[in-house]
Formats: sequence, C-alpha cells, structure tokens
Amino acid sequence: MTTLFEPAYAKVNLTLDVLGKREDGYHDVKSIMQTISLRDDIELDIGTGKPWVLRCDKEGIPCDERNLAWKAAKLYLDTMGKDPDGIEIRITKRIPSEAGLGGGSSDAAAVLRALNRHYGDPLSIWALAELGAGVGSDVPFCVVGGTMMCEGRGERMRKLPDLPDCVFVVVKPDFPISTPELFRKIDEKVIGQRPDHQAMESALLAGDLEKVCHGLCNVFDPVVTEDHLELNYIKSVFSTYGAIGHQMSGSGSAVYCMVSEFEIAAVICNMLRGNYPQVFIAKPV
Ligand code: C5P
Repeated sequence: MTTLFEPAYAKVNLTLDVLGKREDGYHDVKSIMQTISLRDDIELDIGTGKPWVLRCDKEGIPCDERNLAWKAAKLYLDTMGKDPDGIEIRITKRIPSEAGLGGGSSDAAAVLRALNRHYGDPLSIWALAELGAGVGSDVPFCVVGGTMMCEGRGERMRKLPDLPDCVFVVVKPDFPISTPELFRKIDEKVIGQRPDHQAMESALLAGDLEKVCHGLCNVFDPVVTEDHLELNYIKSVFSTYGAIGHQMSGSGSAVYCMVSEFEIAAVICNMLRGNYPQVFIAKPV
C-alpha cells in the first residue's frame, strides 16, 4: 500500500462576470481566480485491498460517491484504465463549505494530482485540468492554481502574472449560498457593474496592488448582499481597519479583503473573530 499526500488550496475570485446562459444549462463566465494558502490536506492510501473509503474530520461533508474527491478518483481511474485494488481518501478540512472558496473542487483537484503523480504523470497538468471539468466547473482551475483567467464554464484557462505580494483575510458568515439558485437569480437581473478585465490584467502586469484591489468586481456580490446585509457590516470592518479592497468570493457567502501587511490582517481578524468564528488569514499561492 502507498500513501500519497497532497495540499488542496482554496481559491478566491478577483473578478467574476456571468456572460450568459448556455444551451447545456450552465453559464459562460469570465473570472480571474487566485489560489490562497488556506487549505485542506488530502491523504490517499492506494491498494488497501478493501472497498473504497472516504473519511473527513468535519461533520456534514458527504463521505461517499457524492463527494467530489471520490468522483475525481473514480473519473481518473476509469479514464486511465487503472485498478488500484482499493483506495482510502482522508480529508482534513479547513476550507469552509458553501463559501465560494472552491473547497470541494480543490479536494477533487488534489486527488487528481496525487493519482497522476502516483502513475508517473501520464497526463500533463493541462490534460489533468481538462479531465477535472468532468467533476465540477472550478476543478480545472484548482488543478493548476496560481493566478488565472478562466472562461467558458471555467475550463478555458490562461496564466496571468502572479498577484503582487499581499495578505488576505477571509470571513465565512453563518449562512450558505446555493450556487445553482444564485445563477438562476442573476438570469433575472440586469447586471449593473461588470469587471474591467483589461484594467485588471494591466494592474497584474504592473504588479500594482492598489490597482488590483480597485479592479475587484464580482457580479454576484450585490445580488447576495441585498439579501444578506451583514456582508456590508463585514466589509465596513475591512475598510475601517485598513483593507485596500474587498469583495465576496465566487457565489459566496465568504467575503475577503486584501491588505499589504500581515499586522493589518491580524487587526482585522481580531475585530471580526468575536462575531465570526470562521475567519482566516492567507497568502496568495
Ligand atoms: O459545475 P458545478 O457542479 O460546480 O456547478 C454547480 C451548479 O452551478 C451547476 O449545476 C449550475 O447550475 C451552476 N453553474 C452554472 N454555470 C457555471 C458554473 C456553475 O450555471 N459556469
């Protein structure tokens, strides 16, 4: 039996635009995504000689074939024609669920990378990402990570310059958001402000953190905020204590801010921790 270890990093959306509904029911999106150091840990036993097992240290996470990590393992092994004679997946969970931070997708991506490494890297990282699209829309990005422009359902990716050095504070309020429902809701809205992707790419190229923060824009943010005004409270704490920019990640409900120094992040964290147990400090990865 072999045990593999793989980190599974959370993502945030620096920009997120919804371009329109497709015939397959999904939406075309355009989003600049960024991996951050908040992470789950994946351990994978290969060749257990027993039926498949998935364990997670956090309650409420499905521990069977509904889990994206399980789906990813099955898809990889079926596609590559491999039979490892039993696997056990163990997930140490730190990324909050239903947060827009790509937690489940990131676990799936980590399983794909670990299995591909185990079998001698038969797939390139890009081929592995393409395979990941069969598990979920955010999986391709989570396979590759870094700073990426993602289009289509999220599977068409282009590498962008690294984000300038900064610190994130991520807060997960105590309400979940259903992604399909939010996509349905936005279909009925006229989108006011959309991201200026050209400006954001220039800001990244120049390594200008102020301009990057100025360009943060997620079309889902106002739609969720109008129903959950506490997001405005969190954002006002961010601004008061020195955040350069802030917004909701993905379909929420996590919101994040970006600051220049760890010390500022620590102050913001302390100001919010009383009301929000799920607050994290992270760096770009
Ligand atoms: O692909 P994933 O399972 O993450 O998507 C969850 C749901 O979010 C989809 O079933 C769909 O309703 C919605 N979605 C969408 N367009 C995308 C991504 C997700 O409509 N690009």
